[in-house]
Amino acid sequence: MNFFLTTAIDYTNGAPHIGHAYEKVLADAIARYRRLKGDAVFFLTGVDQHGQKVQQSAQKQGVAPAEFVAGITSQFLSLWKTLDIRYDAWAATVDPVHKHCVQAMLQRLWETGHFYKAKQAGYYSVRQEQFLTDKERGPDGEFGPEWGEVVLIEEENYFFKLAGHRQWLLDFIDARSAAGKPFVLPDFRVAELRNAVEKLSGDLCISRPKSRLEWGIELPFDKDFVTYVWFDALSNYVSFAGYDPTPGADNAVFHSRWPALHVIGKDILVPPHGIYWPIMLRACGFSDTEMPTLLVHGWWNIAGSKMSKSQGNIVDPAELVKTFGVAATRYYLLSDIATGRDADFSEERLILRYNTDLANSLGNLLNRSLSMAKRYRGGAVKKSASPLAAFIAEKCAAYCRHMEAFEVHAAIESAWEIIGRCNGYVEETAPWKLAKDPACAEKLDGVLYTLAEALRILSILITPIIPESAEAIRSQLAWEGSVTLAQCEWGLLPDGHSLGDPVPVFPRIESK
Ligand code: MSP
Repeated sequence: MNFFLTTAIDYTNGAPHIGHAYEKVLADAIARYRRLKGDAVFFLTGVDQHGQKVQQSAQKQGVAPAEFVAGITSQFLSLWKTLDIRYDAWAATVDPVHKHCVQAMLQRLWETGHFYKAKQAGYYSVRQEQFLTDKERGPDGEFGPEWGEVVLIEEENYFFKLAGHRQWLLDFIDARSAAGKPFVLPDFRVAELRNAVEKLSGDLCISRPKSRLEWGIELPFDKDFVTYVWFDALSNYVSFAGYDPTPGADNAVFHSRWPALHVIGKDILVPPHGIYWPIMLRACGFSDTEMPTLLVHGWWNIAGSKMSKSQGNIVDPAELVKTFGVAATRYYLLSDIATGRDADFSEERLILRYNTDLANSLGNLLNRSLSMAKRYRGGAVKKSASPLAAFIAEKCAAYCRHMEAFEVHAAIESAWEIIGRCNGYVEETAPWKLAKDPACAEKLDGVLYTLAEALRILSILITPIIPESAEAIRSQLAWEGSVTLAQCEWGLLPDGHSLGDPVPVFPRIESK
């Protein structure tokens, strides 16, 4: 099966933080799981490089916007490498391929009457790059601090006829839910989107006069304007997947990938991904069956409040990896938050989860299993039936069910139940006692094979979560078979297989 996965593309007006890192790690775990399953995965991620904020940040630093975004982009690229994010295509919106596609989409929508030009006067939020209406005023009648500087402006712009699609969008959302394939996951977010669509009244301004913003993609039908950054950014999902918007174009490669699963944060569901994007696609001729699915994750907060530059509480993921390692960082970001919900970031939690789950549970199981096999059998295991085989198969199935539902945290729990059961099994069977009694030789063989085989299967299950450590475990098991879900079947470690030497994979983190 083809599986097309994207993440939100990150604004390049500031350095990456753990929110960005979480989203990429989550998408990477999902993509890696689908590869294990044998799907043809196309994982697209990238950076959102245009727009007013970027232009302003560049100005502040006294550099050209292109130079400014190149600097921030390199920070993102290096972070994804550090975090072992394995993507198949990189969406940087200054790319000429993207620019060409966006302009062709704009041209198509212009020619088919989806845009009109009109004069607009009103309050404009420089920070959010949008005109404000009375709906945006707070109870005190003022525009809140979230809008930043608000100025009164009057200008001509191009508008996208959104409101006419309102009923279609409502029907589409309902039809997808009724068919058991919600447009938005987790499905508790469907109601939130639906409410917003119910209130949809105005159209969307999709242009910015160059006098105010130059750093964008020029409208192909009016060189005095660039397009609004969201129109530009959302289009990345199709432009980098080979989409050609020209009517009648051959889009075979694109259609072999599309439709995508978009992994996004809860703040960009309404309106961009939940309203603008499906309407943009529909206006370009996409049918209802060609609409994507939105997987909406929650936020990492710091002590219950938002991370922000002004609060000085931004957590730098590159620093985390430097201090604690990539396994600790990935494992924490994936296990300590339920997909869709918010969580509080804390270094103490990261250390606790690493020491408990990786160093103690998994690390200890690996170390004691290999050491005992070495000590009692010179490292060679004898193929035997196991009392744990059925339990492990059941947990593998639960792991897959959770991964299919994008509940990565729950999949991790299923895998760790195997680890817990195996550590319990070591205590129950006490191989050190069995080794002393020649009558128990067969039983000891059974225990050692069970542990080695369980670790082999675990090394597959943890591949999407902590790929590098999974590889290290397989190497200690001297297992060179293919790494696929099919290999989670019990009993694939051959009779007489020689295990490698134990080397600690998860040294304990001593907290300060
Ligand atoms: N550039 C837009 C997205 C365009 S997609 C066509 C954008 N960029 S962003 O840099 O502000 O955010 C990128 C992603 O990171 C978004 O999905 C956002 O929800 C996510 N996060 C930003 N802060 C976050 C947390 N504190 N926690 C989790 N994710 C968060 O929006």
